[in-house]
Amino acid sequence: MTTRAIYPGTFDPITNGHIDLIGRASSIFDTLLVAVTVNTSKQPLFSLEQRLELASQAAAKFPNVSVIDLQGLLVDCAVQHNTKVIIRGLRAVTDFDYEFQMATMNQKLCKDVDTLFLAASTEHTFISSSMIREIAQLGGSVSEFVPDYVESALQAITNQSLCANPIEV
Ligand code: PNS
Repeated sequence: MTTRAIYPGTFDPITNGHIDLIGRASSIFDTLLVAVTVNTSKQPLFSLEQRLELASQAAAKFPNVSVIDLQGLLVDCAVQHNTKVIIRGLRAVTDFDYEFQMATMNQKLCKDVDTLFLAASTEHTFISSSMIREIAQLGGSVSEFVPDYVESALQAITNQSLCANPIEV
């Protein structure tokens, strides 16, 4: 029997913390699907295509990892892909309330699908996509926290918005 898991997220953008989790989950399961959400209540900085592309670049070094887009409900996507395990990372106790609520709701929506939490590695507990976006947009360096292709994509998007909205002096 092969084991499969799905790791969903907005990945706006994917960070070293996400990639560490992908590596660890992919060593536990035969196949790992990284599912990049299409519908999000958040207003992503990167388009779906860009988030998929960056996640695919990150996944390329793990032979048993594929990247898919997540349309509709996560539990439906899990069932469609023959997966019973959702992977989520926990960085700190502040993540717990939201994650616990989501895991419980997903369990209610589909009793066959369970959520498995992996603790973030200590060197990644403080990394979040929102902080990465903010630092990059304010001109700080994020090279320690994301792969170089993500850093370049952030630079490109920041330069683009500076051209569109030049700072008046
Ligand atoms: O990286 P994020 O933004 O914390 O990921 C949130 C995500 C994508 C896991 C969540 O929004 C989700 O599962 N979206 C799919 C739609 C869905 O199933 N919503 C009900 C969740 S209880």
